[in-house]
Amino acid sequence: MANIIYKNMPDMNEGRKRVQKPNTIIYDYEPSEKLISKFKGKKVYISTYGCQANIRDEETILGILSTIDMERTLNPIEADIAILNTCAVRENAEDKVYGEIGEFKAIKAKNKELILMLCGCMVEQKHIIEFVLEKYPQVDVIFGTHNIHDLLKILDDFILKHKRYVDVSSKEGDIIENLPVTRIDNYKAFVNISYGCDKFCTYCIVPYTRGKERSRNIKDILKECKELVDSGYQEITLLGQNVDSYGKDLDDGTNFAILLEEVAKLGIPRLRFLTSYPSDFKDDVIDVIAKYDNIMKYIHLPIQSGSDSVLKRMGRRYTSEEYLALVDRIRAKIPNIALSTDIIVGFPNETYEEFLKTIEISRKVDYTSAFTFIYSPRKGTPAAKLVDNVTYEEKSKRFKELVDALAIDFNKHANEMVGKTYEVLVESVSKKNKEMLSGYPYNNKVVHFKGDESLIGKIVKVKITENHLYSLLGEIVNE
Ligand code: SAH
Ligand code: SF4
Ligand code: F3S
Repeated sequence: MANIIYKNMPDMNEGRKRVQKPNTIIYDYEPSEKLISKFKGKKVYISTYGCQANIRDEETILGILSTIDMERTLNPIEADIAILNTCAVRENAEDKVYGEIGEFKAIKAKNKELILMLCGCMVEQKHIIEFVLEKYPQVDVIFGTHNIHDLLKILDDFILKHKRYVDVSSKEGDIIENLPVTRIDNYKAFVNISYGCDKFCTYCIVPYTRGKERSRNIKDILKECKELVDSGYQEITLLGQNVDSYGKDLDDGTNFAILLEEVAKLGIPRLRFLTSYPSDFKDDVIDVIAKYDNIMKYIHLPIQSGSDSVLKRMGRRYTSEEYLALVDRIRAKIPNIALSTDIIVGFPNETYEEFLKTIEISRKVDYTSAFTFIYSPRKGTPAAKLVDNVTYEEKSKRFKELVDALAIDFNKHANEMVGKTYEVLVESVSKKNKEMLSGYPYNNKVVHFKGDESLIGKIVKVKITENHLYSLLGEIVNE
C-alpha cells in the first residue's frame, strides 16, 4: 500500500452528519498548460451506472475534460483516460462495475499509458476502496461524488506524483455552480434542482454517498433551463432525490411548486421531474401540474411497500392510507395522470401477508409502469444489521408474483392507448430494427414506429397500433 496517495478516505459516520451548511462555490478552474498539452485531442471513455444524477455527473465530467480539449470515445481500447462512474444502490449494480473493472486488466496490458479512474457512489464506501485497491491493480485514481469539480487538480497531481491516488470524502457537500457541461443529447436534458438526501430510508445508501440535501438557488436553475429552451431543447427533467423538498433549506420562500411553475413558464415543450416523495408532495404541486400543458401528466411516486409495518421499518414517513389519499387528490385534479412507482420486495422479515399488501395497494393505485427490486443489504445502513428470516428463493418467488400482478394494470393502460394518437419525443433508432425509431409519450412508455433518423430529437404524432405490454407499436400520423 506504500505507493498509494490517500488524500481523503470516505467514512460512513461522517456521511451521516448533517451539521455543515453547504457553500456555493463558483467553478473557475484554469487548467495548467502542462495538462492541456498532455491531453489535447486525447480520448476519454466514460461508463456510467445508476440513476439520472450519475448521468448528469457524467456530463459534468465530460464538460470539465473538454476544457483540456479531450474528446469522448465510446471504445475503451482507444481511450487515454477511462472513467467508471459507479452506482451503489444494490449489489448487482456493484457487480456490473467489478465486471467492467476486470475487463480493463487486458486493456491496460495493451495500453500501459491508460489512466483508469473510478468515481460515483460505490467509491463513497471505504470498504469498497480497500477492496478495489487490493484486488484491481489496474485502477489508478479514485475520486468521489463531492469533488468532481476537482478532477483537473486531481489529474495534475496524479501525473506529477505518478502514484495510485485516492481522494474521496464523506461530507454534507457543497453546491458548485458554473461547472462546464457536455450534454449527451441536444434535445433533452437533466437539470439538478437539489443534491443529496436527508430521508435516510433504512435500506438506502444514497444519503451517505450523496450527502446532505441541498437546494440550488432558483435563479441558477432558471438560468440553466432558459439556456436549454433558447438552444431548442424539447424536454427538461428536473432532478432531485426528493424534488418535493426543494427549497426547504433556502430562506427565500421558494418551494417546488414555485420552481416548477417558473420553469414551465419558460416555454420548454416538455417538462418532467424526478423523484417525488409521497409525504412531501404538496397539493400546490398538483395544481401547477394541472395548470400547464407542457408539464407531462406523469408522476413517479415511489411507494416501496404497501404494508404499514414494513414502511415503518423502512423509515418511510407515510402510511399506505396517506399514500392512497394523495393519489386520490392527484387523480381528482388530473384524471389522466400516469403514475409509476418503485417497489422493494423482501425487506428483512417481510411476511407473506405484508407482501400481499404491496400487491393489493399497487392494484388500487393502478400504476402505468413500475421499477421493482429485490431488497439488497447495503453495508452500514440500519436495515443491513437486521437478521432476516426470509430466504432469497422466497423473495424471488414474491418478486415474480408482484411483476405478474403489476402487469395486469400495465397491460390495461397500454390497451387503452391503442387507436389513440400521442405526441412522442423521438429518442433513438430502435436497437432491434434499424428501420424503426423509439420514443416516449407523456407517460414514459416506450413506443416503436417506422421513421427516418432525422426525426430524432423532434416531437411527432404517433398513433398506437399494437400493445406489446412493456412497449407499444405505432405509426407516425400527419394531422
Ligand atoms: N430518491 C429516490 C430514488 C432512490 S434509489 C426515491 O426515494 O425514490 C431508487 C430506488 O432504488 C428506490 O426507490 C428503491 O426502490 C430502490 N432501492 C434503494 N435502496 C435499495 C436496496 N438496498 N435494495 C433494493 N432496492 C433499493
Ligand atoms: Fe434513498 Fe429514501 Fe433518500 Fe430515496 S428518499 S434516496 S430511497 S434515502
Ligand atoms: Fe446509484 Fe448513487 Fe444514483 S447509488 S442510484 S448512482 S445516487
